[in-house]
Formats: sequence, C-alpha cells, structure tokens
Amino acid sequence: MKLLILSPIDADAIEELRRGHDVVCAFGADAERIASVIDDREVVILRSGVTLTADLMERAPDLRLVIRAGSGFDNIDVGYLRTRGLELIRIPEPGAKAVAELAFAHMLALSRGLLEADRLLRRGRWTKGELPGYLLTGKVLGIIGAGCIGSRVGQLGAAWGMDVIGCVEHPSAAQAAALAHSGIWLTDCQDVLSRADVVSIHVPLNDSTRHLIDARALARMKPGAYLINMARGGIVDEQALHQELTTEGRLRGAALDVHAEEGEGRISPLAELSNVVLTPHIGASTIDSQREVGHRVISVMSDFSTDSSSGHTHPEPPTVQWVENPVETS
Ligand code: MLT
Repeated sequence: MKLLILSPIDADAIEELRRGHDVVCAFGADAERIASVIDDREVVILRSGVTLTADLMERAPDLRLVIRAGSGFDNIDVGYLRTRGLELIRIPEPGAKAVAELAFAHMLALSRGLLEADRLLRRGRWTKGELPGYLLTGKVLGIIGAGCIGSRVGQLGAAWGMDVIGCVEHPSAAQAAALAHSGIWLTDCQDVLSRADVVSIHVPLNDSTRHLIDARALARMKPGAYLINMARGGIVDEQALHQELTTEGRLRGAALDVHAEEGEGRISPLAELSNVVLTPHIGASTIDSQREVGHRVISVMSDFSTDSSSGHTHPEPPTVQWVENPVETS
C-alpha cells in the first residue's frame, strides 16, 4: 500500500513498513510540502505536531486510513473523515504509560524544587535549608480526565500514598467502580480543583476544554497547590497561569509538557518563572513506548492490507477506534 508517514515514529517500524509497502516520509513538513506528496497515498500515519486538514485529505482520492500513532486527535479533521467515510485508528495505550510516568516526575520535581536546586548548585550555590520541599505522600491528587492516562496517574498517586480524586465526563457506573477499585474517587471538576494539592490535567483539546483552566478555575485552586498539564497547550490559559503564579501567588508551582505554542524557537512566557517546570511535549516519548507504538502500527497495517486484499470493507464507515474513554488524552 502507499503510505505517508508525517511524524518520526520508531525507526525499526519504518524499516519494517518499507519492506511491505511504498513508504514516503515527510517529517516536520508544512502544509505545502504535505500537499506535494499526499496525492497518491492510501494511508497517512502521524503523531502530534502536524495538522491533517480536510484540504490536505481532499488531495488524496485514494486515502482510506489515517493511523494516529498516539492519543490526541485534535490535529486531525475528524468531521471530514466522518463525511468521507475514512477510517481512523488511534494507538493510545503505549504512550499512556509514559505520559503517566512523566506527570509523576513533574510532581516530584515541583514538590522538591528539583530543577531549581540543580540550577543553583551548578552555579556553586549550596541551598540546603533554603529550598522548601513538600511530601506528596498524604496529599490530595486531583485528576481532571481520569481516562486511559489520567487513571494511570491516579494509580501511581494511590501507590505513593496520595488520596486520589478525579473527574470524567459522564462516567458509567462500571467506570466509576473500576476507578474506585484503583483508589480513584470520582467527583466533579470544581471539587477536584478546590480540594487537590496537585491537579493533573488529562482531557483532550476540543471546543469545550479550550481554556478549561482559566483565571476563574485557577482562583478555585487550593493555596499552595501545583498544576500539571500533560494534555494539550490550549487547555490552560497560559496568561492567566502566569498572572496566578506572579501576582496572585496562590499556586506554588506548575509543570507543563504541552504549550500554547510548540516547536523549535518558541519560548513559553512561563519560562521566566523559577517555580515552573517545562518539557517539550515528550510525555509519550520513551523508547519503550514508541517501540510498542511501532509494533502496533505494523500490526494495524498488516490487518488493513489483509482486509483490503480480501475485499473486506468495514460495514459502517468511518470506524473511529477509541479507547475506553474518549474524553481523555495525553
Ligand atoms: C499523543 O497524543 O499521543 C501525544 O501527544 C504524543 C504524540 O503523538 O506526539
């Protein structure tokens, strides 16, 4: 089949795909470059950082499948896929483990002032006794979006001796019971904001979550709390967060892996604050997770090629394959 890979997925997986398919790679390509290579492609594979618009897909009359080698699909025009009956397959689980671990790493970095201690020590400053540290054990961890990733973060928190509360949109009784079984107690978003010592965000970016964490939401947070955003940049109003951390002073710190503006040369307005930890959207980027994503892409392609050659078509296009909770992302 004719594949277009728009993001750097696992190199061994690309090599394997090349053995059975005609593969074009266009990593970091802008819309113009994508437009120049998409016309004869049947499958597009991508991660975050590139946008697959209706305009681009329109140029590919043979396009049948989009593989999202990860979780979030805010960078794909799903409405267009639906209208045209194209299939979207997401591979969220492998990255979820890595995102959850990074969220926890950020919590520890914030609560112990790890980066600040490191920065100062490298300049010869011995800050023992100057930098306050706080335990996570015994504190309340609040998960906004306790789905595939959020629930993993909650499980790590529960194992660490934290009291874990969380919220999801329209939870089923079974989902609530499963979360409670993992030590995560469901409540509403406002309660999570006002009770948690650490709020960790794991919802997808869409019209209802854009700037979900704005000045009003931040004002509801507990004094001394930390905010972690591992989901999407647009969910937190960065200006309001900056104002909160500088003028209001209610929050003790924040950590963000995702940003309103992402990419080489972009510097977050929060970068000037010493109580903020920033990483470049690396949540899902562990070797192990990406290797697993690569294996899954290969197996998706093998199933899809078999279906195609046997003439099997999916009964109700488009098939959007979700994880158990579509309101959650990385
Ligand atoms: C995701 O949504 O899975 C993450 O943003 C990782 C990525 O695809 O880059």
